[in-house]
Amino acid sequence: MAESQRLQPRLVVLIALLTVIIFIVDIQLPLGISMGVAYVAVVLASLSAPGYRFTQSVATLCSLLTVVGHFLSPAGSDYVKDSVNSALAIFAIWVTAFLSLKRKRAEEERARMEQFAAARERLALLGELAAGIAHEFRNPLDGVLNCVQLLRPIVGEKPSDRELVDMAEEGLHRMDTISARMLRLGREEKGQRLPTEVKEVVDSAVSLIAIRAQKQGVHLAVQVDPDLPLVDLDAERISEALLNLLTNALDACMSGCTITVRGAKVSGSGEAVEIRVIDDGSGIPPELRSKIFEPFFTTKPVGKGSGLGLAISRKIAEIHGGSLKLLESGQGTTFSILLPVKAAH
Ligand SMILES: Nc1ncnc2c1ncn2[C@@H]1O[C@H](COP(=O)(O)OP(=O)(O)O)[C@@H](O)[C@H]1O
Ligand SMILES: [Mg+2]
Repeated sequence: MAESQRLQPRLVVLIALLTVIIFIVDIQLPLGISMGVAYVAVVLASLSAPGYRFTQSVATLCSLLTVVGHFLSPAGSDYVKDSVNSALAIFAIWVTAFLSLKRKRAEEERARMEQFAAARERLALLGELAAGIAHEFRNPLDGVLNCVQLLRPIVGEKPSDRELVDMAEEGLHRMDTISARMLRLGREEKGQRLPTEVKEVVDSAVSLIAIRAQKQGVHLAVQVDPDLPLVDLDAERISEALLNLLTNALDACMSGCTITVRGAKVSGSGEAVEIRVIDDGSGIPPELRSKIFEPFFTTKPVGKGSGLGLAISRKIAEIHGGSLKLLESGQGTTFSILLPVKAAH
């Protein structure tokens, strides 16, 4: 954010110098309203500083100096006219500050939206590209997999030969899984969304990781409010998104950790249900948090992570008119899937 950028010392010195010069001229010469124009120019110059506070401070300083200058400047012929001039100068300073800050805010907001839209477009393109490649990949891949399976009875009984065939088959299966996931990244279709019990979807996803969690010594807890409304969703896809979050949580957890899935109704614009997946595992370092939703971003070793889980899960939430966000990550990690209760038609 602009507020966090550093203020240029050169700008501060320049503004201070200009203000002092204007003030000295103001108390030496009876120039009236012209000094107000000069202060307005200083306020405008301060806009190049990051954030809004500096301009507000400069406007306050210029107003104060106008008041002090009013009492110190040589008495003009008309006291009332001098007072009106000073009041007008202060008015001009604040109107300028207010309008220019409003415009600066709007411009910054627009730039942020443009940046956001560009990032989204990039991700959508990447998704399409991944899906295109996966589509082209799958036919030859199926062919090779078939060949390897046909080879199995031909190779002899030597364990090392069998091991080679097993390895080839395992690798090909993995490529097949990855290309299926890449295909899903480009899939836009909404699927069939039916009024569904959230607890059922959560339970089905949790049951799929239960054995692995037990082996790893990770405790699983499900806390879904009993009075949740039915949510219009494609149970298979939401379950897939939850499974991705749960698998990530397991990957980040050591023995003794707990993964909690919480479901609750949230109030806001429209009725919605939030599912949170909370773990007390390794957490995500701050510098990686902006990258985790990018397709193919992974911190896992080759063969373990494809970097597609969060990208696909976010897409699934968005197809449902909802969102997937990283809420916090310090000691552990919390992801939140927000789903509108009623599907938009
Ligand atoms: N619960 C979590 N705890 C810690 N790190 C996580 C968690 N969830 C996701 N991540 C990070 O986000 C990255 C991307 O996740 P994902 O898109 O599912 O791809 P993958 O699991 O294949 O690496 C992971 O490699 C990991 O670094
Ligand atoms: Mg994953």
